[in-house]
Amino acid sequence: MPEFISIKKKIDSFKGKSIFIPGDKSLSIRFILLSSLANGKCTAYNLLNSEDVVSAIKIIKKLGIKIINKKSRCEVYGKGLYGFKYKKNLILNAGNSGTTARLICSLLIDTHYPIKITGDNSLSKRDMARIIKPLKLFGAKFRDNNNKLPIFIKGTKFTKPINYTENLGSAQCKSAVMIAGLKTLGVTKIKSLPSRNHTELMFKNVLRVPIKIKKKKKYDLIEVKGKNKIKPFNYNIPGDISSASFFIVLTLLSKNSQLRLKNININPSRVGIVKILNMMGANIKFLNKKKYNGELIGDIFVKSKNKLKAINLNSSLNSSAIDEFLLIFLVASRCEGCSSFVKLAELNKKESKRLDWGIKILKMMNVKVTKTKNNGIKISGKKNFQTNKKVVIKNYLKDHRIFMVSTIAALSIGGNWKIYNPDSFKTSFPNFLKILISLGAKIK
Ligand code: S3P
Repeated sequence: MPEFISIKKKIDSFKGKSIFIPGDKSLSIRFILLSSLANGKCTAYNLLNSEDVVSAIKIIKKLGIKIINKKSRCEVYGKGLYGFKYKKNLILNAGNSGTTARLICSLLIDTHYPIKITGDNSLSKRDMARIIKPLKLFGAKFRDNNNKLPIFIKGTKFTKPINYTENLGSAQCKSAVMIAGLKTLGVTKIKSLPSRNHTELMFKNVLRVPIKIKKKKKYDLIEVKGKNKIKPFNYNIPGDISSASFFIVLTLLSKNSQLRLKNININPSRVGIVKILNMMGANIKFLNKKKYNGELIGDIFVKSKNKLKAINLNSSLNSSAIDEFLLIFLVASRCEGCSSFVKLAELNKKESKRLDWGIKILKMMNVKVTKTKNNGIKISGKKNFQTNKKVVIKNYLKDHRIFMVSTIAALSIGGNWKIYNPDSFKTSFPNFLKILISLGAKIK
């Protein structure tokens, strides 16, 4: 991989193209972790083969579970709820993956030896308090470095179910509590702000563990019963909407273009970006919808639109678009008028400080943007906005989404871009550049 890529030309119009996007990252990591608890062989098809998923696979293998990961399928030979081989001095490295680091701790609440969890530079800056707090209530003990990795977890034989309120809107936190609840005798109850519900759907439709879910106006009430035997299962993983979103926005902002993205996970808790772009005047459609294991799957059809309008968004869609805000900010630069977004504190807790990065990138492009009170942002957009500025993006924490959004900005809005850390997108979307090139992008 070169040190940087250069883009000096917008993409030419593309039409009549269909693309497949690699498997959903949230589902791929959940498959690896949860299948290790089943009593026998589980197989996933279309598992995402990215660095974050490989980190999860390596960790589960280190815990004594056999995994065979082939191109076409991945087999996990689960050994039941208590099948991990705990050894002295185990170190588990989650790499760049927050989902892996946080969810693996919930699977370790019964370890009799302390286990060290580590991660890369970016992951070591991220908050672990959000899972340490509830997992301590289950009976686990932690030695941590101010709530950051590396941390040590030591579990207990006497895990107990808990009642917990999750008020960050974090699916990782909610899922950690649900998964830990599997290793207790009794019912764990969670009151949680809405967030992606893949763990609930997998528990109910795939693992078939007793779970109750009540949707209230502002939060969800979830009850999980522990100590169940999990039968082996197979899972077909649909395409990742967070990865698809880069191409949705590229098409929307390019001239006379059309694209169909096939077999994407359009779970309502993930499609915030599509709702927001449609509020801005896009006309993005879901086609061929079907349900599979509780997840809604379909094709996404998008066309370019040169007349987009500014919006003032409240926070109700924040969680369902949490990984897509950098792209939404980019589209706002093309919306006539001033757009505003509020309560985005969680964005600064991702692989890098994405709210601050969004502002930085837009400023480099010559867009008028301000950070507002309460972690909000205001963006003054213009119809057909384009730039010819020289933009250099060096994101030392190697945040994959900073790299990918910069690429989409360069190809749709113009300018002379030098984007460093091209290896970063391998954590979530290894064939990102290949697909762009297949649509006609000129990237050096
Ligand atoms: C994820 C949840 C989100 C998201 C992350 C994946 C998951 O994080 O940003 O990329 O798979 O549960 P939070 O739960 O911290 O919001």
